[in-house]
Amino acid sequence: MSCFSCFSSHRNKAKGTNSGRRRELAAAPKELPISSQPRPENPKPKVIPVETTNKDAIKETANKNIAAQTFTFRELAMATKNFRQECLIGEGGFGRVYKGRIEKTSQVVAIKQLDRNGLQGNREFLVEVLMLSLLHHENLVNLIGYCADGEQRLLVYEYMQLGSLEDHLLDVPQEQKPLDWFTRMKIALEAAKGLEYLHDKANPPVIYRDLKSSNILLDKDFNAKLSDFGLAKLGPVGDKTHVSSRVMGTYGYCAPEYQRTGQLTVKSDVYSFGVVLLELITGRRAIDTTRYTEEQNLVTWAQPIFKDPQRFPELADPLLHGDFPLRALHQAVAVAAMCLQEEPSVRPLISDVVTALSFLGTSPSANTTSFDDPSPPSDHNMMSENQNLRDEESIRERQRAVAEAIEWGSNSRRTASRCGSASSL
Ligand SMILES: Nc1ncnc2c1ncn2[C@@H]1O[C@H](COP(=O)(O)OP(=O)(O)OP(=O)(O)O)[C@@H](O)[C@H]1O
Ligand SMILES: [Mg+2]
Repeated sequence: MSCFSCFSSHRNKAKGTNSGRRRELAAAPKELPISSQPRPENPKPKVIPVETTNKDAIKETANKNIAAQTFTFRELAMATKNFRQECLIGEGGFGRVYKGRIEKTSQVVAIKQLDRNGLQGNREFLVEVLMLSLLHHENLVNLIGYCADGEQRLLVYEYMQLGSLEDHLLDVPQEQKPLDWFTRMKIALEAAKGLEYLHDKANPPVIYRDLKSSNILLDKDFNAKLSDFGLAKLGPVGDKTHVSSRVMGTYGYCAPEYQRTGQLTVKSDVYSFGVVLLELITGRRAIDTTRYTEEQNLVTWAQPIFKDPQRFPELADPLLHGDFPLRALHQAVAVAAMCLQEEPSVRPLISDVVTALSFLGTSPSANTTSFDDPSPPSDHNMMSENQNLRDEESIRERQRAVAEAIEWGSNSRRTASRCGSASSL
């Protein structure tokens, strides 16, 4: 890999102050490596562990499939006008993110300059890059390339014009139009589809571990994509050799059992998804220290309301001004409540969540027939009648799927409450 031995121009010593919203979670056992933790049901590694990787296979796969390009530090410095402040678009736990334009292709990209304090060795960085470049889905932010030039480690991603969901949902300036209900449900559905790919379709499967609204990015049409999957091993906290073994996450999004015991399963991601869905419904932050004590933790505040469907409208974001189908609100709250159950085994699989949300994620303009009130066919020629019949059939199929998913959710809640572990709706 020519890039690793190429010039190391360290003229730019830009270094993130590292606001570090991602944290090592205090309650988790400090030194319990993920790989040596007790295995929960359906255990799946977040990223294929280096020890269990067939390195030759990785090399071979990489040679065949790796689409990520290598960049020199000089190229990325040029792309960001030498990492100038005006190109800075964000900063997180791993370092700063810049908007840039790659000179030779004119491609606009987002460049994440990883904080050098948090870096693991070259080998781990490479494995991360390999894994990231093998994961491709329309609801995952694409890794375009990377730079491992001298001590510099940078990742180059596709640029997402509208930034993060957090910017549009939780940090809405007064002059900005709040997200409408259908856009919120579409974002929820697309985030769930990204997670479904990581859990069920990626091989080896990937547990995301840090799903939150700042990691859901939006393109110019509000299409949602997950970012930062696979980066947790590069986390900046802790001593360098054990970063990958620390339990990482973000307060308010982290599943209780993962925080308590370090046991990581796909269901931890489902819990975090439930928190994001609840943020979408309520417009409230997972943790908001500016609110009254009893309202600071979103899930704790919402749990009693989950038990009383009459109170569901209390959950709706006031910025929606009641502009949502009540039935859809009920379904979305039911899905969030299922994902947020204490007991991981009774939380749904993300594929079930995708099924349940697939109806809610379609706007009435995309599908003129409403859930409650199918409109009659407008055109009476044979072809459009057939088309209408097909549409109605597919609507009925989706309604059946949603009903089954909700029914399945109620059953699992009943089973769980018999075991005394889940909240009932
Ligand atoms: N590919 C991208 N396109 C456009 N903006 C991006 C991109 N990646 C990140 N950003 C912007 O940079 C911000 C910081 O992202 P970053 O992932 O570094 O931090 P974070 O998500 O807030 O926290 P964490 O480090 O825990 O993931 C995002 O909130 C987003 O606004
Ligand atoms: Mg992020």
